[in-house]
Amino acid sequence: MPSTFPVFDPASPQAESIRDLFVQVLFISAAIFAIVSGLICIALVKFRESETLPAQDFGSHKKEIAWILGPVIVVIWIAAISIKLVLTVNALPPQYAKGESASDNDVDIFITGHQWWWEVDYADSGIVSANEIHIPTGKKLRVKLQSHDVIHSFWVPQLSRKMDAIPGHSNYIWLEANSPGVYQGRCAEYCGTQHAWMNFQVIAHDPADFASWQQKEQKVAPTPTTGQAAAGAELFMKLTCSQCHAIEGTDAKEDFAPNLTHLASRRELAAGAIAYSPENLRTWLANPQAIKPGCKMPNFKLSDEHLDQLVAYLETLR
Ligand code: CUA
Repeated sequence: MPSTFPVFDPASPQAESIRDLFVQVLFISAAIFAIVSGLICIALVKFRESETLPAQDFGSHKKEIAWILGPVIVVIWIAAISIKLVLTVNALPPQYAKGESASDNDVDIFITGHQWWWEVDYADSGIVSANEIHIPTGKKLRVKLQSHDVIHSFWVPQLSRKMDAIPGHSNYIWLEANSPGVYQGRCAEYCGTQHAWMNFQVIAHDPADFASWQQKEQKVAPTPTTGQAAAGAELFMKLTCSQCHAIEGTDAKEDFAPNLTHLASRRELAAGAIAYSPENLRTWLANPQAIKPGCKMPNFKLSDEHLDQLVAYLETLR
């Protein structure tokens, strides 16, 4: 169940710092607003019918010091908590601080924005996935954000700061979750027709569960040799599917479109446009443009027989 007010329901140290800064600045501003508007109201009521000016007070050092010191303390306080926040969320690799060019050695996950889906590459395990990011809890993962085409913005309100994915320029964020759960992420920068359906989920597991997910994900489903599924596998290579998608253990190796190696164990299709189910997969293949108009997946005008075969094959990709 996604959080209704995710910004107030942080699940990582970074998101907690952002919430704390927001709430503190909100209360400080509210207090100043209340004092100023309260004084204005008092003056309006108390002096509205008086003929003469109220008593004027010139050259009071005490009062001058008070109204200079007050705002200075408030500004220093806000600056201090802002600097603390910046230090907490800053995920630049250490080489940057030394003025060296960054290497990818410190990166745990590479995330690339595409129109309109997210590619997820795990540095250590070599796993490639799409629109679903599995992480272990309690570990600070350095994410390198890139874009394949236009500017996107990676945002998981409960976990992290928002960060743009820019073509030709890499950005870094920490991805970390305090407790297991599913955290909704979105593209937060208008990037074309299907910007609204460029969603993803971060799924945080206990370290032991993450290890078993990783093991499962590194295995590749055997290519079916009999029945509908085998016909579907053949069709997948014969049609142009394999010119955009990759499936580990087959000749399909392109990364223009989402990697389908474990498609059937994903929770959603088409970057969150519909839930994953064999029925929805069939509807999607029958006419992707009806579900996500403008997306890069064409309508292949497949026959019912071909649709059944492809769905039977893709369902084996677990
Ligand atoms: Cu990608 Cu908006």
